[in-house]
Amino acid sequence: MIKKGIILAGGTGSRLAPMTKVTNKHLLPVYNKPMIYYPIDTLKKSGITELLIITGTESAGDFMKLLGSGKELGVHITFRVQEGNAGIADALKLAENFVGDENFVVILGDNIYENSFEEVVQNFTTGAHIFLKEVFYADRFGVATLNQKNQVMKIVEKPKNPETNFAVTGLYIYDSSVFEKLKKLNISERGEYEITDVNQAYINEKKMTASFLDKGWNDAGTHESLFDASKLARDMILKREKINK
Ligand code: DAU
Repeated sequence: MIKKGIILAGGTGSRLAPMTKVTNKHLLPVYNKPMIYYPIDTLKKSGITELLIITGTESAGDFMKLLGSGKELGVHITFRVQEGNAGIADALKLAENFVGDENFVVILGDNIYENSFEEVVQNFTTGAHIFLKEVFYADRFGVATLNQKNQVMKIVEKPKNPETNFAVTGLYIYDSSVFEKLKKLNISERGEYEITDVNQAYINEKKMTASFLDKGWNDAGTHESLFDASKLARDMILKREKINK
């Protein structure tokens, strides 16, 4: 039974400049609410209400002002601040005390999912699990190569010539051995600690499983995808309204 979720909301959001010049990417609007509401909602719908939000120094106060203790949203939020922006895996190191020796979920703060993950989250026992989505242009993501049994053999971060179109999306389930793996990471050529290297470590130990998303997904990290994220969010609301009619 997983109870804890980490939302990573640091970084510079440089690809969304100038909108991110004076605020954090995850506070920008996606259709009718700030981006950070979506990962909170995804975790909540997956049965996870004990949340740690990791953000950068500059906008930390704004997150607290917006979300408070999380009571209004039906979750309990703890905050931690990442100094600098040395990558997703660097931010994740800050979750060790919060997680202890439990299994947990990590979601990138700019990932918007139509799926909820209750079943796979609650059936998870050990190792790591990732969620893949077939996309047109895979070169801006971590890209997974699968074998004939649909097992993940390899993940390459932002390859120039992707071997497949299977993007690794920004929701990961880990056991607490992730913290030992994080300690062994080297910084990548682009100067970041990469989540892809963490996932590759699980693959090397044959402890990685994966499934494909069957509904909408968006990484709202560029102008074009932020625009698409608003469309996805609007579609999700309209679909829900139709079902409830
Ligand atoms: O969206 C899925 C993709 O996300 C994956 O396919 C890639 O494998 C993964 O590396 C990541 O790629 P991005 O280039 O989209 O990552 P980005 O730098 O945009 O960071 C994603 C989130 O992680 C961002 O919304 C905030 C958080 N973050 C990022 C950095 C660099 C931090 O909390 N701290 C950081 O230092």
